[in-house]
This record gives sequence, structure tokens and C-alpha cells, in this order.
Amino acid sequence: MSYFVDKKPHAVLIPYPLQGHINPLLKLAKLLHLKGFHITFVNTEYNHNRLLKSRGSNSLDGFTDFVFETIQDGLTPMEGNGDVSQDLASLCQSVGKNFIQPFGELLRRIHDSADAGLIPPVTCLVADFYMPFTIQVAEENALPILLFSPASACNFLTTFHFRTIFDKGLIPLKGLQNFRLKDLPDIIRVEDRKDPILEFVIEVGDSLHKASAIIFNTYDELESDVMNALYSVFPSLYTIGPLPSLLNQTSHNHLASLGSNLWKEDTKCLEWLESKGLESVVYVSFGSITVMTQEQLLEFAWGLANSKKPFLWIIRPDLVIGGSFIMSSEFEKEISDRGLIASWCPQEQVLNHPSIGGFLTHCGWNSTVESVLAGVPMLCWPFYGDQPINCRYICNIWEIGIEIDTNVKREEVEKLINELMVGDKGKKMRQNVAELKKKAEENTSIGGCSYMNLDKVIKEVLLKKY
Ligand code: UDX
Repeated sequence: MSYFVDKKPHAVLIPYPLQGHINPLLKLAKLLHLKGFHITFVNTEYNHNRLLKSRGSNSLDGFTDFVFETIQDGLTPMEGNGDVSQDLASLCQSVGKNFIQPFGELLRRIHDSADAGLIPPVTCLVADFYMPFTIQVAEENALPILLFSPASACNFLTTFHFRTIFDKGLIPLKGLQNFRLKDLPDIIRVEDRKDPILEFVIEVGDSLHKASAIIFNTYDELESDVMNALYSVFPSLYTIGPLPSLLNQTSHNHLASLGSNLWKEDTKCLEWLESKGLESVVYVSFGSITVMTQEQLLEFAWGLANSKKPFLWIIRPDLVIGGSFIMSSEFEKEISDRGLIASWCPQEQVLNHPSIGGFLTHCGWNSTVESVLAGVPMLCWPFYGDQPINCRYICNIWEIGIEIDTNVKREEVEKLINELMVGDKGKKMRQNVAELKKKAEENTSIGGCSYMNLDKVIKEVLLKKY
């Protein structure tokens, strides 16, 4: 349902410039557009060019009322083909120092266009909460700002507690039960207070109270302890997830051309999946920023091959540290009839394919949510940031996954794949994930909590100045 007939409200959205952040915020942008908003979606110029390249196109702008704008990221391009934005420490430093000026200038240009009557005036900002400079820009422009948590509420809570932990040494964290230090974001274990990522995350934590409101790509029952702890600290919070399911409530095929892939999608794997039996295939993907050594890759490779189960494995061009990898002809021969390797795929479609029976994942929050929505149990090899906490939830709280040791060994991979795909534990996990999927759908369907919360946050926050 759209609220507006002639004069549209105008939301400017800006994600943290990584794939796992762009994807969910673009979904939210589509939802707001479907509610009648004029949308400006701001990417870094670097990512914008990657989006164009991945789809072999010159332009992303399919609509006059859904516009893509860019700002410079202030990073120095890497030599060779290296992906500059995958260097997290530099990216955090650059976001902290270099983004505020171009973003402020962009808003001024947008205001000028609005003054000239070309577009509606900006009514609100929606920013990834890892972009704290946007709060100052919102204040300078007297605009409400909605911060978006692209990861779990649990990750948000730990970010919020960072300052206290380091100032007062307060552990365990309030609201987190049954967690080990190992499960918390690895940044918590650095010893150098000058670590750039640590400094950045503390600054992010400090800024959270200044937002008009905060929204989460989760649903209340999924993380109820954490949400209850957060509701007692922050006055204005809304759970609006899982976003893929909320977006699916509304017909949005006309927005399909507005994609967010930074790598070129290989869709042949969908045809390949057609030839496989029901729930027989293991889908393997480590998201957009995980990297591993050649040795770790080989342990996964032989674990998969020895499990004798069909698998679809996404190996990004930059997955292996040091660049290229070569699989032996022995391995190629072993997997020829049941293994497929691709460099990027339409993951949501893949996970929802009836042939997929399990997901070997790095536990990124988007992958976690997408797996829950597809009713697929997981094998977990968390790598970085919020992934260890997500893994803890998946394996110990929701009981929909099994953890693989950090020091991955082929025998363990083989054994756990079999447990996941055909074992009793896998069966139980499949039942548990089906329950979570059902609850997610209830929350996002008409009248459900997340469904109502999106309308609430639009009325109470985004349209406050309208
Ligand atoms: C990171 C963090 O890990 C994550 O927890 C945080 O919330 C966002 O930043 P990333 O490591 O890339 O993200 O993982 P994930 O959150 O799972 O996001 C990856 C996205 O890429 C998913 O939406 C997935 O569907 C998509 N993807 C992945 C593809 O579309 N094709 C692929 O082949 C692989």
C-alpha cells in the first residue's frame, strides 16, 4: 500500500560499502519505495562501478523515483586486481574520516535539485549503523535519521557494550547468556587500543543513542533475550525482519532490475540443481569477505569429495589468500559427476531450490537469515566479526546447525556433512529450522509484528517531518 498520491516523501539511504550490507539495505529501499517513497540510494563510486560491471550495463537507474547516487570512498586504489574495499581496517578508517564531506555535499546537491522542483525534498535519512558520520549530517540538515542494523540484534548489543567493556572490564555482557569469549566478535580480543577497527567500532557504539530510531533485520522471537535487553536501553527500536520475507509480501517484480551483486552471477548452477534429487545437495559459500588459506581450501575440498554427497561450491576469485588456486586432476575426477564450482550465484534462489539439503556457511547474518527462510540446516565455519555469535545462536540456541572446528580437517568435514544430510541430528535440525521459518513468515505477513513495525517506523519516525 502506498501512502501518497501527489507529493512523495524522500528517503536517502546509505549502506556500509560491503556486499553483506548493501543487500539488505537495498531490500529496505525497495520496501520504502513500494510504500510510496522517492528513493535515493547512495553507493561508493567504486562499488557502483562494480555493480555496473557485474551486470554488464552502463546504468542502474531504471526509475525516476528510485535513483542511485555515488560518493568517493577516499581509498587509494590497490595495484593489480586487488579489491580495495575488502581491506576492512582501511575501509573503517576511511568511513570515519573521508565519507562525511562528500555525503554532506551530495545532500546539498539533492537539496538544490529539490529547490528547483526536480525531485521531492529529502524527508529522512536511513543509514547503516556502521556509518556514524551520517548522524552529524542528519543534525546539520535537521532531518530524522533511522539507523539500520544489517546484522543480528545480538551483534548490535555487543557493539553497544564495547565502550563499557574496554573502560570498565565488564564481562559477561548483560543480556547474553551462555556465551563464550570465543563467540563474541573477534575485535573484542585485540590488545592494542589503537587498533583501527576497534576504534571504529567503539565510535559506532558511542553514536547509537543519537539516532532517531534503530531498525533490525531480525524478528522479536528469534532473539528475544537480546531484544528485551535492548528495549530497556533504547527508547525507539523496531524489528522489521527478515527483510527477504517482508519484501516477498508485496509484488515487486518491477524492481527486480535493481540488483545489488558486486560479482557477476552464474545462473547455470540453477539448471544443474534441477538434475539433482530432493534435499540431496550441500550448498557451500563463505559470503563476500571471508578468506582462507590454500590448505584450508583443500581440507574443505577433500571433506566434500569424501562425503560422497553432491555439492555446489561458491569460490569467489578472492576467496583464497594469495590469489589463485589449482585443484588437482585427482580431485576434479573424484567430483566430476557430483560437484559444481561457481564464482557467485543467486544465493536466495539456490537456497530455496528443492535439491538443497544443507548449507556449509561462514554464518554471515544475511546467509543465516536466508537459510532459515529456506528451511535449510547449516554447517558453520565462522570467520570474522559477528559470525561467531551467529554461529553460537545457530548451533546452541536454535539448534539448526553444527560447528566445524576453526582448524578445519577433511575427516571432520566429511563426518559432519553426513550428519547434516542423512544423520539423526540433521533430521532434528531440519525440523527446528522449519519452525523458525514458520515464525519468520508469521512475523512478516500481514498483521505480523515485523510487518506492522515497518508501517509504525514509517509513520512515527520517517514521516515525522513530513
Ligand atoms: C558481512 C557479515 O559477515 C555479515 O554478518 C554482516 O551482517 C554483513 O557483512 P558477508 O560476510 O558477505 O557479510 O555475509 P552475508 O551476511 O551472508 O552476506 C552475503 C550476501 O551475499 C548474502 O545476501 C548472499 O545471498 C549473497 N551471496 C553470497 C550471493 O548472492 N551469491 C553468492 O554466491 C554468495
